[in-house]
Amino acid sequence: MRGKISAISIVTAGLLAGCNTHQSTLAPFGADAADIRHLFIIMLVGAVVIAGGVALLMRHAVRAPEGSIDHRKGMRIVLWLGGIIPTVVLLGLLAYLLPYMRPRPASPADLTIAVDGEQFWWRVAYAPPGRPPVLSANEIRIPTGRTVAFRLSGGDVVHSFWIPGLAGKMDMIPGRINSLVVRADKPGRYRGQCAEFCGLSHALMAFDVIAMPPAAFDAWLAEQARPARPGDDAGARLFAANGCGGCHGIAGVTAPSRIGPDLTHFGSRRTLAAGILPMTEANVAAFIRHPEKTKPGVRMPSFPQLSDDEAIALARYLQGLK
Ligand code: CUA
Repeated sequence: MRGKISAISIVTAGLLAGCNTHQSTLAPFGADAADIRHLFIIMLVGAVVIAGGVALLMRHAVRAPEGSIDHRKGMRIVLWLGGIIPTVVLLGLLAYLLPYMRPRPASPADLTIAVDGEQFWWRVAYAPPGRPPVLSANEIRIPTGRTVAFRLSGGDVVHSFWIPGLAGKMDMIPGRINSLVVRADKPGRYRGQCAEFCGLSHALMAFDVIAMPPAAFDAWLAEQARPARPGDDAGARLFAANGCGGCHGIAGVTAPSRIGPDLTHFGSRRTLAAGILPMTEANVAAFIRHPEKTKPGVRMPSFPQLSDDEAIALARYLQGLK
């Protein structure tokens, strides 16, 4: 028995050690997620106490010689281990947890970021006070130590916005705006994920969250507010000739678009296709020709008519948009 328990502990420890701390409720980088981790541990302790009581009861029932437990004794055991102890533990947990359910005082946010869930990507718009909004997609940067209000909506179907290391989940519902106010304490790169089934590529709808020191964040946002500085002429011609600008906005090149992700600073993002592929030239070129191979059900049409050289030229042009 002891051998079995140690084997289970070793396997469990190995599995936990293998967890990616960049997307984990147990590795918080904000106060709300720290509360969630704390509550998880407290409830785990409660669950272990109750499960332990039930296990003891079963052990007693199985091992006791036949006839050794009379009706009264049996009822007493059931009453204590099955009734009194779980009730006390659950009431204790309830009393401890209730204060966490109180609504928090709404403090004015230092920054508002609108995020819309789309099939299957994230539309992001920063609204810095007193400055025009900055459009982006599939990557969210936030300043540490400042209050950030996410205004969440859905462009098509219901999605759910979830950054496990920062806060709980929040639904993104078409036609309605839900608010999620957060504050990151630790700089770093974290992962978020859609947490509501939204179609074929639901599981392929992720994003990076980069928490930066406030000064670095302000400099980054000022850079993102500038129009694009496109290079590479062959790629620019292909972008225009294939009508890419009909769905994708590039500030300074095309009008903003409400259809596909904004590409003004596409090359500065670290991943492609909503957190799914590393941002490499080969991946961008392959995605343009056959986006459905990476994302089944994607709304972007395929461009199989592009030659290898043309797809690479387009990828270079887009990656040049820093
Ligand atoms: Cu979007 Cu699931």
